[in-house]
Amino acid sequence: MLADVDDATLLLDAADAARRITPRTRCIIPVHLFGQIADMAAVSALAAAHRLHVLEDAAQAHGATRSGPGGEHWRAGAIAPVAAFSFYPTKNLGALGEGGAVTTRHGALADRVRRLRDHGQAGRHDHVDIGYNARLDAVSCACLSISLARLDAGNAARRRLAAHYRTRLAELPGVRLVAEPTGSAPVHHLLVIRVAAARRDAIRDRLAAAGIATAIHYPRPIHLQRAYAHLGQGPGSCPIAERAAGEMISLPMYPDLTVAQVDRVVAALAAALA
Ligand SMILES: Cc1ncc(COP(=O)(O)O)c(C=O)c1O
Repeated sequence: MLADVDDATLLLDAADAARRITPRTRCIIPVHLFGQIADMAAVSALAAAHRLHVLEDAAQAHGATRSGPGGEHWRAGAIAPVAAFSFYPTKNLGALGEGGAVTTRHGALADRVRRLRDHGQAGRHDHVDIGYNARLDAVSCACLSISLARLDAGNAARRRLAAHYRTRLAELPGVRLVAEPTGSAPVHHLLVIRVAAARRDAIRDRLAAAGIATAIHYPRPIHLQRAYAHLGQGPGSCPIAERAAGEMISLPMYPDLTVAQVDRVVAALAAALA
């Protein structure tokens, strides 16, 4: 089942997830959405209580950190026993084409994932599992190695820009920011604001007219996608995600953006809101 998000952070609401657990539930998949780590203490406690696996979706969170309730230093992809990263070109760590990685501290699981990505082969012509062709090509790997060395600098730039955005956006009535819990150090894969749903599209049009591209991540929650109709979670089953889907706007965010450009975006947004 798909669970709703917390209204302030837009991260998995563990209390709601608890209500969705059925005898068929095997795993909880918290998404570190927009580059911010989910409430892994709540997720881990829930998983332990119901003997469930946890898989972090770290696709948007390369390098994100958060302190745990006991002062633990959490780093995305190294909190749960297993995590998945995406190297889609637009991600904080992007390849030339498709790509991704699984991180785990369990050797047997790592071996299995390595096999599955290569037609299930443990060695040449020795197929242990029925696998896939999910190998990362050498050129992409070479580029990723270079980009990996630049990841921290890129994330630091995103953090500086996000801090500036947040200060400036706080001046605008009618704009809601995604909350950052104490101890959370997101990597701002996306800079998402929320505005009144009735005005959202007009605001985007005004920004577009000012030459500012925006996007919506995501206009339709997963439980309302046709692919998941079989779950029977129609409209109203995840009300917070549904409302947020109508209110969100992703503003420009990438490491090479300048503070002056952020100011221009905020000025155009202020004019659109007036
Ligand atoms: C949160 C999240 N999970 C999963 C994915 C899927 O990643 P990929 O397209 O590399 O399979 C993405 C990327 O689009 C994502 O943003």
